[in-house]
Amino acid sequence: MEKICVVGSLNVDLTVTVPHFHQPGESMFGLSFNTYTGGKGGNQAVAAARLGAPVTMIGCLGADAYGSMYLDALKRENISQDGIVVTSAAPTGIAMIEVDPKGENRIVVYKGANDELTCDAITEKAGYIERSGVCLFQLENPLPAINHAMAIARQAGAKVILDPAPVPHTPIPQAMFMLCDCVTPNETELHILTGMPVDTIEQAAQAAMKLIQMGCPAVINKRGGQGSLLVTKEGYKLFPGFKVKAVDTTAAGDSFNAGLGVGLAMGLELGDAIRMANAVGALSTTAQGAQAAMPTMEQAMALLN
Ligand code: RIB
Repeated sequence: MEKICVVGSLNVDLTVTVPHFHQPGESMFGLSFNTYTGGKGGNQAVAAARLGAPVTMIGCLGADAYGSMYLDALKRENISQDGIVVTSAAPTGIAMIEVDPKGENRIVVYKGANDELTCDAITEKAGYIERSGVCLFQLENPLPAINHAMAIARQAGAKVILDPAPVPHTPIPQAMFMLCDCVTPNETELHILTGMPVDTIEQAAQAAMKLIQMGCPAVINKRGGQGSLLVTKEGYKLFPGFKVKAVDTTAAGDSFNAGLGVGLAMGLELGDAIRMANAVGALSTTAQGAQAAMPTMEQAMALLN
C-alpha cells in the first residue's frame, strides 16, 4: 500500500450528549461528557491508520496538556509525528460538540494552534507529502498553507483529496480546485459552495457539476445514510450507504475520506474505493466519539462482504 499523508487539524473534542439540541437562551443539563482526540485532520489520519495504512500527520498542536494528550494518541495509533509542529503561540484547538439521541451533532471549533500552520512549516515538512501516494486535506487550517501543501502533493504526483470542510467565508480559489483529484463535500457544504439546491440526487449532481467546471475532475457528495454520489464530466452514480445503528455521527465524513484515501492507496478503482469509504464511514458512527469506532480493515471488509 502507498503511504498516506494527512495535512490538517488536530482538536480535542469536548463532547456532551444532550436530550435535544437547545434553543437560544435555553440552559439545559447534558447527559454525559467525554474528552476525545478529534479534528478533521487527526480523525482522517487515525481512520487511515486503523485500516492499516502507513500515515504521516502534518498539523499544529499547542505546547499544553491537550497537545501532549494528542501526541500520545497519535503514537498509540502508529501515526508518524514527524510532521507535527508544537507551538506556544496558541493553545491546542478544541471543539465543543453536542450529540443528540439520534447521533446527530453540532460542533463549534476554536482553531487555536491549527491557525499557526504556516506555508513555511509546510515547506519544511514537504518531504513527507512528496513521499506519499495519497494526500488528504481539509479546511480547518489557514487556506494558504493548505493550498501550498496541495500544490506540493500535486507536483509530486500524489492523489489529492480535499474535504472542503468547514466551507470558508471567502470563496475557495479556483486554482485550489484545479489541484484536486477529488473534492468530497457533504450536502450542506455542496449547497454553500455552489448556492444550488442539493436535496435530490439530480440537484446534487447539477451542483457538483459547477465544481467540476471549476477544474475538479471528480466530486463525491457525502449524503449520510443514503450513501455517496460520484459526479464526473461523464455523469453521476449513487453508491448506496450501509445500514448500521448510528450512535454518534461525529467524524463519519472524516472516516469516509480516510476509507477513500486508503482504497486509492491500495490501488482500487475509484468506485471500489468509494464502496470501502461508505463502509468505513458507516462503521465509525457506531460508538461515541470521533475516533472510537473507526474500523480496522477486517471490520470494513466484513461489512463490505
Ligand atoms: O469532523 C468532526 C470533527 O470536526 C471533530 O472531531 C471536531 O474536532 C471538528 O474538527
